[in-house]
Amino acid sequence: MDIILCPTAEEASLRAAALITNAVRARPATVLGLATGSTPLRLYQALIQACRDGLDFSRVRTFNLDEYYGVAPDHPQSYRRFMNEHLFDHLNLNPANTRVPDGLARDVAAHCAAYEAEMRAAGGVDIQVLGIGSDGHIGFNEPGSSLASRTRLVALTPQTVSDNARFFATVDEVPRHAISMGIGTILEAKRCVMLCFGANKAKAVRAALEGGISQFTPASALQMHPDTTVFLDEAAAADLQLKEYYRWSAANQPA
Ligand code: PGA
Repeated sequence: MDIILCPTAEEASLRAAALITNAVRARPATVLGLATGSTPLRLYQALIQACRDGLDFSRVRTFNLDEYYGVAPDHPQSYRRFMNEHLFDHLNLNPANTRVPDGLARDVAAHCAAYEAEMRAAGGVDIQVLGIGSDGHIGFNEPGSSLASRTRLVALTPQTVSDNARFFATVDEVPRHAISMGIGTILEAKRCVMLCFGANKAKAVRAALEGGISQFTPASALQMHPDTTVFLDEAAAADLQLKEYYRWSAANQPA
């Protein structure tokens, strides 16, 4: 893992964005794995700015990590709608090249298998963007998810339901289930980029980056991935033992 500790989430987001824009510039048909939530919003704004500045996304393909189960694509809180509003509508992407699991899939197992088949047919994900849950999840792979798990229907933890209640009128409206890429699916991405910001992530970050690899901290599985870069702000890094080293490493990256 390459752990990059930045003074602010702003700087971390811009560095992560540069990694992605460089990849798209080098390979216009890049396949991006994308995430929702508050964490990647600044990164997405930077991608939109890059597109306005002339970067071509017309051949980029995208696969999102997850979607709430039982939620229609046009539901105000669906992840499809989130992605359209915060990214897809502002890039020169071909809408047909953007994929989000279908929260209304009737045959969920068949839908999940087809989603994975489509990722494989696209040549696999080149760069997977990830956030981390306060319970250590990546995608909606909650603690206890098999490290070999594939795209499937998952139950959210009460912690995740409570964390996500801020997007809904009441906590009772938060879906209890989601369709999520598995940890095994995520680990097949050629490169992973995880962003972790804010004090409420510090405990999960410590467990994921400096604890043992365990299904109780799904993000710890990234320790086994050969090309993962983690961008942290100071608040999320508060509990890390090797903080000084990560700061030094961030300040001394090769050109
Ligand atoms: P957040 O969610 O970016 O809204 O904090 C991250 C996650 O749950 O993966």
